[in-house]
Amino acid sequence: MNIYIPTLIYSEKDCVKKYGRIMSKTGRKALIVTGKNSSRVNGSLDDVISALEANEGQYVIFDKVEENPSTETVMEARKLGLQEKVDYVIGVGGGSPIDAAKAIALMLGNPQCDESILYENTMRRYLPVVAVPTTAGTGTEVTPYSILTIHANRTKKSISHRIYPVLALVDYKYLKTQSESVLINTATDALAHLVESYLNTKANDLNKMYSEKGLQLFGEIKDRLKNPDDEVYMKLSNMAMIAGMAIAHTGTSLPHGLSYMLTYELGIPHGKACGVYLGKYMEMYGKNDSKVVEKVLNMLGMVSVEEFNGYIKGLIGDVEVPEEIVKANATGLLSNEEKIKNYPFAVKVEELTL
Ligand SMILES: [Fe+2]
Repeated sequence: MNIYIPTLIYSEKDCVKKYGRIMSKTGRKALIVTGKNSSRVNGSLDDVISALEANEGQYVIFDKVEENPSTETVMEARKLGLQEKVDYVIGVGGGSPIDAAKAIALMLGNPQCDESILYENTMRRYLPVVAVPTTAGTGTEVTPYSILTIHANRTKKSISHRIYPVLALVDYKYLKTQSESVLINTATDALAHLVESYLNTKANDLNKMYSEKGLQLFGEIKDRLKNPDDEVYMKLSNMAMIAGMAIAHTGTSLPHGLSYMLTYELGIPHGKACGVYLGKYMEMYGKNDSKVVEKVLNMLGMVSVEEFNGYIKGLIGDVEVPEEIVKANATGLLSNEEKIKNYPFAVKVEELTL
């Protein structure tokens, strides 16, 4: 058993301003990696720029990261970073910009290499990464994962390098401008992380402390997601980060493995796509080990898998998945060893229906 979270974390209101000096001391010049709009709307980009300027930090901005970022975007950002001679990367936004920031940091550390190194099992240097998350979902601010879209394979996959941010500045106030659907979908992603980490081959007494705390926090706010106040935003933010710590140790399992095709082929947002299979996962797991599923339900303040399924449906709504995709997904999952080995029982393809 081991525990390893090497990221220095500040989780509080106005932490970008308060700890801007620490951020600016990460290097000489930063490549700020963000999306087109939301970091401008929620104020996080302005906060990062002000904090750098107040501490005489230099920076250049790359603001073209799309949802589910591609390797092409990563390579475009690297070009800018090399031209500008940056020596660290700040990811500002949801999971996409921060995941992209990690992959960009790797490519910047290896300027002579092409993108094939992203999926190579060789130890490589990479530039330090600072994370300023503005959604409560992926937990990427504390995980070593960077999920990119590979158009050639029509799917998404984590790069093979484990890149933890050196610093995470987590301010729940950035959640306030997001739409209800983004809040719900990202919260569902974090819930999936907690469930898939607790119901996981790699779950143990040490790392379960993360999923246990996260599930308890989710239970406290589960009925207030559509009418959030400051307390809900703060708990959501911490819950998603703690869920990230949980999967940093265990990885995710079948619902995540099954989600990628739904996102790529049907454009269903990541968290919602994970939610589609989450109830099924609880059901399948419960048939093999009902006691541990009961514990999950207890921590969430629920009494049955049926109640859990009803809750998820109420959150994400009805999702229509064509029969051919359900079948292709079930067969495709069998080739995803990473996910299969995290499920401690035999996977029966015929069970993977909706
Ligand atoms: Fe996820």
